[in-house]
Amino acid sequence: MHIHVLGSAAGGGFPQWNCNCRNCDGVRKATVRARARTQSSIALSGDGVNWLLCNASPDLLSQLRAFPQSQPARALRDTAIAAVLLIDAQIDHTTGLYMLREHHRPLQVWCTDPVAEDLERGNPLLGLLGHYCGARRHRIPIDGTAFEIADVPGLRLTALPLRSKAPPYSPHRDEPVAGDNIGLLVECTHAGKRLFYAPGLGEIEPQVWQAMLDCDVLMIDGTCWRDDELIALGVSRKRARDMGHLPLHGTGGTLDWLDRLPRATRKILIHINNTNPILDEDSVEHARVRSAGIELAFDGMELSL
Ligand code: MLT
Ligand code: MN
Ligand code: ZN
Repeated sequence: MHIHVLGSAAGGGFPQWNCNCRNCDGVRKATVRARARTQSSIALSGDGVNWLLCNASPDLLSQLRAFPQSQPARALRDTAIAAVLLIDAQIDHTTGLYMLREHHRPLQVWCTDPVAEDLERGNPLLGLLGHYCGARRHRIPIDGTAFEIADVPGLRLTALPLRSKAPPYSPHRDEPVAGDNIGLLVECTHAGKRLFYAPGLGEIEPQVWQAMLDCDVLMIDGTCWRDDELIALGVSRKRARDMGHLPLHGTGGTLDWLDRLPRATRKILIHINNTNPILDEDSVEHARVRSAGIELAFDGMELSL
């Protein structure tokens, strides 16, 4: 399986256009040692030719420009992106679909029923695409049944419903339903290696923990260091947990869980918010993460397993 990180930041990217927090200001002025990052998306392939786009971020066009394998140039109009899978209906994971509207055939969009509902009502993007290339929606099962995507051979996928949050615009934002957010367990059908991908993870429930134990590589939610990070900075009233993101630090935080996994499991944080002190490569928080054998995803990161 080939994994290509297109964007490793949370919504807003890093630096965020309107933000002058220590990180954003510092990366702009080069006074903080950190890498800029675009918004949350990865691409997966079993055969190295056909790719599954997992989440379509608002930064998609620049991400594809920086990923030459996405354009194999076999025809006048071409792409290696054979299908798109959405793990939720958040703005930072779906807006990129608009950028694919010039496709010569309908976009093959995989998502759960609640995500499709949000994309038909709260943010009616699936219907709107009907005025351009069209979108053919495929249902992701959330009962633990594995599924394959014919146009992306070599990958077997299983969705895990997660306790997180529907987007702020969702008609059922405050009444979460199973399937609003999923984690994805992806198995390479020939090598048998497994990736667990969950850029939005509000709670480590038993089936999530099992998936974390079962996989070779983890790419999980690294949004906030502290639960009250945005409140302490004065930029929001919301806690990380209120937004469906388990903080890294603190009792029961993501680092506590990762510390209990085998050393051989590759542990990678993704969907990192611009306020998170781990982005500063000279920070104690960055050192803490690295000393635990945990990596930070960066744009353009590639893995083969
Ligand atoms: C999130 O992950 O909580 C959302 O991306 C927030 C947002 O859309 O800005
Ligand atoms: Mn997000
Ligand atoms: Zn910032």
